[in-house]
Amino acid sequence: MEQQLQQLKQACLDAISKAEDLHQLEEIEIKYIGRKGELTNILRGVKDLNDIEKPVIGKLSNEIKLHLEAEFKKHKSALENKEISKSLHDDTFDTTAPGPDIEVGHIHILSQLQKEVESIFASMGFSVMDGPEVESEYYCFEGLNIPSWHLARDMQDTFFIKNKQDKKHGKMVLRTQTSPVQVRTMEKFGAPLRVIVPGRTFRYEATDATHESTFHQVEGFMVDKDISIANLKGVLKEFLTRLFGKEVSVRFRPGYFPFVEPGLEVDFSCLLCGGKGCRVCKHTGWVEFMGAGMIHQNVLKAGGIDSKKWQGWAFGFGLERLAMMRHGIDDIRLFLGGDLRFINQF
Ligand code: PHE
Repeated sequence: MEQQLQQLKQACLDAISKAEDLHQLEEIEIKYIGRKGELTNILRGVKDLNDIEKPVIGKLSNEIKLHLEAEFKKHKSALENKEISKSLHDDTFDTTAPGPDIEVGHIHILSQLQKEVESIFASMGFSVMDGPEVESEYYCFEGLNIPSWHLARDMQDTFFIKNKQDKKHGKMVLRTQTSPVQVRTMEKFGAPLRVIVPGRTFRYEATDATHESTFHQVEGFMVDKDISIANLKGVLKEFLTRLFGKEVSVRFRPGYFPFVEPGLEVDFSCLLCGGKGCRVCKHTGWVEFMGAGMIHQNVLKAGGIDSKKWQGWAFGFGLERLAMMRHGIDDIRLFLGGDLRFINQF
């Protein structure tokens, strides 16, 4: 019987090694160690053996069974792998073909520019502040000395939030400018201050190439003793020269904003023609840039700062405008339009 078992084992191992596919292997398994297989057949005779042979043969047959089971398992996974790699090499599946490109995102042009602006001002000792985009009428207008008859408070210019009112500070609006953060910062930190406020602003606009209802501004202001317009000019010239990487001149014209006195319009020398005059600067040699001025004493008061001891200047410019001039972009709607052909260029 022992010999019979050894023969069976060998025959089974030979058959296993010749099996070419999973189906053949399965048939061999059934034939040799299946429920009605040859091994089971032999084992049926064990009960008729004498007491000395019984445990010996019993042990041996169990060992052979376990051995063969392990062999089947090993060959099964080998054949499975063979079949997988065969199907991978099928010419309908080219394993050497490159996969689809994974698109990597990048920082939006406006955020890139904002970071640059922040780092230039930070190097001049300015802090970066933030304020709410949904603002109260008080901070957006009253606190900034903007009278109730002013056009900026017109329904045509401002998005008011329906049925929402701040108990202390009146109706809520989408801020039309970043200037409200002036008063908020003064209230919170007092004087002296050197601050810039980049942020999103909103106006009820008929959209066109130079107007967009959502845009970005950078407010800047400085409060200290003995601060004059000369400081403003110096800071702006330094900022623009560093941003554009070449000498830029700044010029002031009178302008009107209720929260500054005197108020200014700021232009800088056209970078394209070097001030000689071209299409971009409308042949004036200067590019309109922003509003600025000395902070109105009513604004300092609203911020809890003693206007007899302290004074300061403020400015506000559009980030889109700056990006448009820098890169020769002629339509403001491209920035938030979501067209990747535009976005991916920067
Ligand atoms: N807030 C003004 C605007 O939106 C710009 C400005 C800021 C003007 C600070 C003067 C001083 O047009």
